[in-house]
Amino acid sequence: MSVRQLISQQEIDQSVARLGEQMSREYAEAPLTVLGVLSGSLMFVADLMRKITVPHQLGLVQASSYRGPTTTPGELTLDLATLPDLTGRDVLLVDDILDTGQTVARLQQELRATGLRSLKIAVLLWKRSRMQRDIEPDYFCFDIPDEFVVGYGLDYNGEYRHLPYIGVLEP
Ligand code: IMP
Ligand code: MG
Repeated sequence: MSVRQLISQQEIDQSVARLGEQMSREYAEAPLTVLGVLSGSLMFVADLMRKITVPHQLGLVQASSYRGPTTTPGELTLDLATLPDLTGRDVLLVDDILDTGQTVARLQQELRATGLRSLKIAVLLWKRSRMQRDIEPDYFCFDIPDEFVVGYGLDYNGEYRHLPYIGVLEP
C-alpha cells in the first residue's frame, strides 16, 4: 500500500487557521464547548483549538464504526462516558470526516437530550457524494471526492494516523 498526497500540510494549516478565525468571530458571546469525536479528529481538534481565540472548554466522545481491514462503514458504537456537562452551552461538534453522515446524525440525536443551547457541526473533510443523511456541516475545510483517505488523524485499520498530510491509500 502507498499513499498519494491529496492535501498538503500547508493547505491543512491554512484552512484550519481560516476556520478558527471564522469561529472566533461567530462565537464571540456565548460559553462554548468544542466537542471532539475520537479518534479521527484528534489532530484537527488540537490544531483548531489553538486558532479559536475565544475562551472555550473541550469535551471528547468516542465513536467507532468498525471497519477492520475494509473501507466500508460497519456498525456504529458511541461512548459518551467522557461527555462533560453541556447545559446552556454552545456546542461545536468536531469530526474528521463527514462520509455517510451516520456518526454525526447519531451524535446530534444523543446530544439533543443534554440541555445544550446550540449545536453546530465542523468537519475537516466532507465527502459530499457519499452522504446518506440530511446533514450539512456548518463548517468544513475540504470537499473531497469519494476516495478512501488517511493521515492527519484518519486511519486505515488503525494505521497511517500520524501522517502530517492527507492522502489517498493506493494498492
Ligand atoms: P460516517 O459514515 O459519516 O458515519 O463516517 C464514519 C467514520 O468513518 C468517520 O468519522 C471516519 O472516522 C471514518 N471514515 C469515513 N471515511 C473515511 C476515509 O476515507 N478514511 C478514513 N476514515 C474514514
Ligand atoms: Mg470518526
